[in-house]
Amino acid sequence: MSAFVRLAALLVFARVALAAPSATDCTGTISSLDDVDDAVKCTTVNINSFTVPAGETFNLDLATGTTVNMQGDVTFAVKNWDGPLFQVSGKSITFNGNGHTFDGNGPSYWDGQGGNGGVTKPAPMMKIKISGTYTNVKVLNSPARVYSVSNPAALTMSQLTIDDSAGDAPNSKSDGKAAGHNTDGFDVSTTDLTIEDSTIHNQDDCLAINKGSNIVFQRNTCTGGHGISVGSIDSDVTVSGIVISGNTITNNDQALRIKTKSAASSSTVTNITYSGNTGTGLRQFGVLIDQSYPDTLGTPGSGVKLSAVNFVGATNSLTVNSDAERVAVNCGSGSCTGTWDWSALKVTGGKAGPITNFSGIKNFSQ
Ligand SMILES: *[C@@H]1O[C@H](CO)[C@@H](O)[C@H](O)[C@H]1NC(C)=O
Ligand SMILES: *[C@@H]1O[C@H](CO)[C@@H](O)[C@H](O)[C@H]1NC(C)=O
Repeated sequence: MSAFVRLAALLVFARVALAAPSATDCTGTISSLDDVDDAVKCTTVNINSFTVPAGETFNLDLATGTTVNMQGDVTFAVKNWDGPLFQVSGKSITFNGNGHTFDGNGPSYWDGQGGNGGVTKPAPMMKIKISGTYTNVKVLNSPARVYSVSNPAALTMSQLTIDDSAGDAPNSKSDGKAAGHNTDGFDVSTTDLTIEDSTIHNQDDCLAINKGSNIVFQRNTCTGGHGISVGSIDSDVTVSGIVISGNTITNNDQALRIKTKSAASSSTVTNITYSGNTGTGLRQFGVLIDQSYPDTLGTPGSGVKLSAVNFVGATNSLTVNSDAERVAVNCGSGSCTGTWDWSALKVTGGKAGPITNFSGIKNFSQ
């Protein structure tokens, strides 16, 4: 082959390769929902400050490899509907929040009932269906649940802020209770996900893993809610390969919880590793592993097989309030199995809780 023929062949190949993706190497700018359809044809998408009209989803369906840059804050006008308020999908995405905010206008919805009654609230507020990275985004005042994550391939979410702290106070509709309710930080049913270096202040689970594998939750700060949860686990699901490490849990009902539904069947939860977590101001439990959900320490079911729940590596150091229980484990008949290494768990304060129907916990006494 002459050099000319080789060059020609290369050019033809390059053209074919370039022609394959539908998006072009341009920058699209979004300053209203009307701009979205054109902007997502580009592989760079900039988001300016604007308000999303009530009852509409800001939906970004991105081309593979797109970079998104937030350059202003996005506010969602209020309507009682199901949501979501924001949805992003695509593969190999780089999403840079640059510290900008998605404001859900939570106080206009909050009535102390979350998803259990009162007015309909958009939930989740944020639906993340990308692989790649999602970084430095702030969510302020979610109506109810914040993030639902279902990534198509590996995703790292980092340096995020969820600030629902205003929901701690009662309002005129919440009957003296915290106005914010069911404001889960991250609801996760997925594989290959890392959530790290983020700050969450809410009134429900900081993280809830409903199913999936290879999930890492590390160096996050959880304030005010129900702690870091595996569950609630329903029927026919598997959870495995979960690492919860280096998190700081402050003023939560419990720090670390596994909750499986008493009515669930044919599910497996295994290989859950906790290391280097710190908890203070824990109101009910330090660690709660309970197979009687939605009851707390009620009659357990035995349809979820639970094994290899380990506290290893750096010490997990939890301090519970004086009327709280340090550790409670409530297993169904024969459904907690194997040997669990709890050598890196230290819980102080309060009183010992019950450990029922399981004798496989080693290297720990309370
Ligand atoms: C447990 O999970 C970790 C983290 O995903 C993984 O590295 C390890 O191989 C798993 N262990 C077993 C026995 O599956
Ligand atoms: C499990 O514990 C409950 C108390 O929580 C007890 O009534 C039941 O008999 C136990 N079952 C087994 C199989 O140990």
